[in-house]
Amino acid sequence: DGAHASAAALRALRARHGDAPALVRTRSGKTLLVLLDPPDLRRFYAEPVSVLAADPPQKCRGLSTHEPDPDGDGAGCVRGEQRTGRRRMNEDVLAAGVPVHPSAGPILAAVAEEARHLTAAGSLELSRARHAVNRAARRIVLGDPAAEDDELAGWLTQLRAQDKRPRGGPRRAARSVHDKARARIGEYVRHAGDDTLAGRAARHGDPEGAVDCEDEARLWLLAMDAVPDTLLRTLLLLGAHPCEQDTAAAEAAAEVAAGPARGELPRLRACVRESLRLYPVVPDLIRVTRGETEWRGVRHPAGTSVLLPAAFHQRDPERVPAAHVFVPGRWKNPGADQDIRLAPFSHGEGRCPGDQLGLMITAAFCAEVLRGHRVTGTRPVLDPVGPLPVTLDPHGIRLALTRR
Ligand code: HEM
Repeated sequence: DGAHASAAALRALRARHGDAPALVRTRSGKTLLVLLDPPDLRRFYAEPVSVLAADPPQKCRGLSTHEPDPDGDGAGCVRGEQRTGRRRMNEDVLAAGVPVHPSAGPILAAVAEEARHLTAAGSLELSRARHAVNRAARRIVLGDPAAEDDELAGWLTQLRAQDKRPRGGPRRAARSVHDKARARIGEYVRHAGDDTLAGRAARHGDPEGAVDCEDEARLWLLAMDAVPDTLLRTLLLLGAHPCEQDTAAAEAAAEVAAGPARGELPRLRACVRESLRLYPVVPDLIRVTRGETEWRGVRHPAGTSVLLPAAFHQRDPERVPAAHVFVPGRWKNPGADQDIRLAPFSHGEGRCPGDQLGLMITAAFCAEVLRGHRVTGTRPVLDPVGPLPVTLDPHGIRLALTRR
């Protein structure tokens, strides 16, 4: 498959050229400067947006606060102060880097209620996970009344499908869906409670006039897409590792016994991070240079695309111990979060501002499942001692749940 071929190709490249950045031509004829050496990775993360601008993958088009070349959408169209204003607002509302979000109480209550849909059938697959997570996401971002809004859910699904298609496709139909979703989100935003992300955004204030709450709320709803896939992969991995599963279930039970859920769940968060290391939702980080840059003495013109193959580095057996094995304990080391070899949320200025919120929500969903149920039969079958498969298509995952 594609990911495997590219890992093999990157290994071959390194064998031939050593660790120096390699200029490669893709099948579509684009040239890319591929980074293979840790000092170059460090530089990639350290350079400001004025040197390396984001060129987000299709999956997160419009999500980034620093896209270089907007196509008139409005959504991703940000430069300079506007980016700074949006970035600051995102960090504040999402509480970037803060393990337990200030609105954790209501957020975890919504997760607990919606998680009931996950275990209702005794088996769990992607459509059920998406349904439950999307309901929770609408409550967290917009407020409880939005949970029942299947019409909005349908529009967001259409926008997601549209985002995945190459640019320049049929835009007019998408435009009307976009406008309908925006108007509906606007209605919720006007009445959003203080604990919702939209309510927090409204209170954040916007002196520079850079921020559009409706657009941000829509982007947060789409950003939550990372959660159902990650939830299923984490539970699948725990199904193949019964000892880890028992430890995680004990942690989930202890949290409830300790009183109202606090949302810390360090062991489960380590499992979620490890599943993201093995199966990142953003496997390639791409930037475009704003001016001429020099890498190891070679000059490259402005407009060069720079690729940091994060999925490859996270599983590079030459640099990461037990690269193809599920070892959540590696995340216990306090420096692991900043380890540049491991970058499920990226690093530096472009790092995901929803990192801790995403971890808290995903770990909480896992905890809700594991409290009452054991993950037993699973598809695909993973070999707990063999190297894990390179990719895990969430559409192919089916989990069997038995009562504890
Ligand atoms: C497990 C869940 C998540 C993962 C793995 C993830 C991963 C990422 C990654 C890797 C990036 C950077 C992409 C790049 O540098 O090219 C990113 C950006 C971003 N993420 Fe997340 N994310 C998650 C959840 C969330 C959530 C829950 C939110 C908000 C509710 C969110 C909001 C954003 C935003 C706004 C950006 C753009 C930041 C900027 O350009 O300044 N993410 N995410």
